[in-house]
Amino acid sequence: MKKSVITLFTVLVLIVLAGCQGASDQSKAIELKLAHNLPLDHPVHLSLVEFTRLVEEKSDEEIKVKIYPNGQLGSDREVTELTQTGAVDLAKVSASQLEGFESDYSIFSLPYAFEDYETYEKVMNNEKVTDKLYNQTEDIGFIALTYYNAGQRHLYTKDREVHDVSDMKGLKVRVQPSQTSVQMINAFGGIPTAMDYGEVYTAIQSGVIDAAENNETALVGNNHGEVAKYFMYTGHQIVPDMVIMNANSFNKLSDNHQQIIREAAQESTSFHEGVWAETIQEQTDIAKNELGVNFIELDKTPFIEAVQPLHEQYSKDEKTKDIYQLIQEAKQDE
Ligand code: GCU
Repeated sequence: MKKSVITLFTVLVLIVLAGCQGASDQSKAIELKLAHNLPLDHPVHLSLVEFTRLVEEKSDEEIKVKIYPNGQLGSDREVTELTQTGAVDLAKVSASQLEGFESDYSIFSLPYAFEDYETYEKVMNNEKVTDKLYNQTEDIGFIALTYYNAGQRHLYTKDREVHDVSDMKGLKVRVQPSQTSVQMINAFGGIPTAMDYGEVYTAIQSGVIDAAENNETALVGNNHGEVAKYFMYTGHQIVPDMVIMNANSFNKLSDNHQQIIREAAQESTSFHEGVWAETIQEQTDIAKNELGVNFIELDKTPFIEAVQPLHEQYSKDEKTKDIYQLIQEAKQDE
């Protein structure tokens, strides 16, 4: 009897010790929290999973990243604020929403800032541009590590066909919380409503707005194709999703770990390109064939003309003229 009590005691001690051992092994790993607002089948989520995998593999599991998807920790704006304070270490946020934090990012919401996708890619891979953009938010608490392609943004409506800019008159359109996007819809003659992405489905369904604008993944991944039946290829913006990191969380890492984070971010951007192209094709087919969304091509010229005053303004405004100029130069760079 006595012996079995001792044995039981020994087993309990061993379990507790093993638990402590496990805990101390675990506590050696640096745990980073990453937040974003997109669904699990979204290419951005898949690329962030790849980023996580690469970080863990390259660091021999010395760094672990836990992803909080689907807006669990808040909207783009909220998770940017959490990244500023360090409550989360990493986040994916749209460059449109970063304009509220750093005016240089407004350049991406300037409609028709890039002639086509190739020009945009060229600019995004220009080091003068990335050096300026990625590091200059350090003093407000975060840096950018890389960008993910988030396609071209197009207009989609509940039940109105749009063929010309004059059809935009009086149309209530959701935009991201971005002053430049608000100005864009005004220039088109519509009525802009800035709101978080998570609220758009219900707002279209209930008639609070008539339209929204986004890439094709909104129709299927976020089910907007259930309530919006016309998708017009306006291609008015090409706005990247940015992967940002709290500056302290990054600076306190060893040089080797910083290098690993940067490399993994870069490699996940290449991975993203492939997943993006496949997803857009697949989701466009689903939107057409299963949700009955009509895809409409149109002449962009009147839309481009309508926003020329904005280009004038951005090329001269104190806050935006440097980045505007830098982007024009990057387009010409060999
Ligand atoms: C795109 C983008 C998201 C963004 C969303 C929006 O889907 O990838 O990062 O939140 O647009 O319109 O809010």
